[in-house]
Amino acid sequence: MTLGHSDTLVSITDLNRTFTGGRRLLRKSRTMNAVSNVSLQIERGSVTGVVGESGCGKSTLARLALRLIEPTSGRVMFDGIDIGTLTPKAMRSMRRRMQMVFQDPYSAIDPRYRLQDALLEPFRLQGVKLTKAEASAKVEELLTMVGLRPELARSYPHQLSGGQKQRAGIARALALQPEFLVLDEPTASLDVSIQAQIIGLLERLKDELGLTYLFISHDLGLVRYFSDRIVVMYLGRVVELLPTPTALPRHPYTKALLDSTFEPDPKLRRAVAPAEGEIPSAFDLPPGCAYASRCPFAQERCRTERPELQSRPHHSLGNADGNMPPYEHPVACHFPLSLTSI
Ligand SMILES: Nc1ncnc2c1ncn2[C@@H]1O[C@H](COP(=O)(O)OP(=O)(O)OP(=O)(O)O)[C@@H](O)[C@H]1O
Ligand code: SF4
Ligand SMILES: [Mg+2]
Repeated sequence: MTLGHSDTLVSITDLNRTFTGGRRLLRKSRTMNAVSNVSLQIERGSVTGVVGESGCGKSTLARLALRLIEPTSGRVMFDGIDIGTLTPKAMRSMRRRMQMVFQDPYSAIDPRYRLQDALLEPFRLQGVKLTKAEASAKVEELLTMVGLRPELARSYPHQLSGGQKQRAGIARALALQPEFLVLDEPTASLDVSIQAQIIGLLERLKDELGLTYLFISHDLGLVRYFSDRIVVMYLGRVVELLPTPTALPRHPYTKALLDSTFEPDPKLRRAVAPAEGEIPSAFDLPPGCAYASRCPFAQERCRTERPELQSRPHHSLGNADGNMPPYEHPVACHFPLSLTSI
């Protein structure tokens, strides 16, 4: 899989999204860039991981990719179609092809809904009429697909375990046979053993159904296990694009994230600060590199000139024959780490 390959399913170009902070007494309202100049190609059948600390813009990027919110500028193409230009009706029909799985799948669902009602809701929203027999066959098929017993169809959310609820959330996302799933921290609230089961399920479904994933997580360890490519975000910008899960990081922030993954318990891992130093306010970013206040390698140039994403030579672990694939490895850093300093 290479960047710019012709079998691109989702193509994101120069995407920006700003939010305006509330006006306070005697203060003007302020604007922050939640997502800045993000460009990304997602190949059909691949898993693209997105990693970064809380507030770096992962969920905003996800919502923009599915046009759940509108961009301030930039474009998202899905299978060659610019989704920003679609009418509400055309967008509704496009939604069948792209779905999202949330950290807490039941938070958006009425607790008085039985599991079967939750699974049939996507059909109702799309205006798909099912007979009673078709509906119960669909519910059974979906439950079986995600490893849940069909008898659970009549359960209420509070009767299900965390893992069962997430399986139900995945089943609901799959109801309309989408091609593209955005998984926004799908295992973050689950215990480690359940987390592994859900990742296993997602891997199996991807292979069986030929799905394409955008997989969002705080946890670089998990993202490296699950993804073909990894997008590292810091304060709204992509700072590095690892072309393979084993590519050695060249950006000091990715290196700090990677070092923090050596905490074996993923729950504790999330709490480990990946770098010391103050994080600048997203409302008031410095002119140079946003990471300079935390970066051990920062120099004068870093504080005045913003580093742009530039392709760098790629180094991958376990590539003993020295035949490096022609992958692009973009990094936004004036002084990227060399192999010797990693
Ligand atoms: N609707 C909104 N209105 C105002 N600000 C918002 C809105 N949605 C997100 N933001 C801000 O945009 C920034 C990015 O938020 P986002 O939710 O995308 O981050 P995230 O990387 O998903 O974080 P987390 O890991 O905590 O889920 C944050 O500073 C957040 O406060
Ligand atoms: S540009 Fe400078 S401050 Fe920013 S990550 Fe690179 S070395 Fe560190
Ligand atoms: Mg988020």
